[in-house]
Amino acid sequence: MPGIMQRLRDETAALHQHAETRPLEQAMVRGEIQLDTYVENLAQRYLVHRRLESEIRALCASDARLAGLVLDEQWQLPNLEADLAHFGAPMSGIEPTRGALRLIEHIEATAHGESLGLLGVFYVFEGSKNGAHFLAPRVRAALRLPGSDGSRYLDPHGARQRELWTQFKSRMDAVDFSPAECDAMLRGAKAAFMFVAEIDDDVYSHTVQPVSTRT
Ligand code: HEM
Repeated sequence: MPGIMQRLRDETAALHQHAETRPLEQAMVRGEIQLDTYVENLAQRYLVHRRLESEIRALCASDARLAGLVLDEQWQLPNLEADLAHFGAPMSGIEPTRGALRLIEHIEATAHGESLGLLGVFYVFEGSKNGAHFLAPRVRAALRLPGSDGSRYLDPHGARQRELWTQFKSRMDAVDFSPAECDAMLRGAKAAFMFVAEIDDDVYSHTVQPVSTRT
């Protein structure tokens, strides 16, 4: 029987492919992301992480098996706050897109139901640091960002990314999750992948003008 991390990887592979091929992600791959698209995406991620990380903290505090699962340096909320502050973007009054609302509602419903499913949502964002680590230099070049200012969320761990990801996977695999809890995590991860892709598309369509109408 594969461990939970292997299952999460294998059973969400098609959803990862869907997420990574969104036009917003591909604009980052090509180093052509626009500033307003990038900042709006950070703002939406801020709304999601604010809710998710508060629920994950509560979950880890309430279940002894999860003590020490998430290290302080893994939290992304401070990085999002620093990035938004770098761009002078307000953290209050952010209007969630439809995808962001659906993801936040999913997080709230999971927290009040099969709460271990939250770890599936967390997995998606934690795992996304792997691809983002490679996107960061392209985004920094496209937006002329100095050092890590404005891109802390994208690449919080730098050269330590692989090491921290490997350690997180080991901690997850060491927890004695029940089959039902694993299934809940899979559901959480699948939903998160779908809604993140939706947020990407929401942000892209709100901010990117068709080439023909650009002035
Ligand atoms: C252009 C965009 C993206 C690229 C190029 C990319 C690329 C990658 C790469 C290279 C890995 C590491 C694979 C490995 O070492 O085994 C990875 C892992 C992962 N990515 Fe992405 N990714 C992208 C977008 C995303 C998005 C938008 C999400 C979701 C928010 C995401 C979630 C994940 C997850 C959860 C993993 C861990 C997979 C595992 O369990 O091993 N990625 N990605």
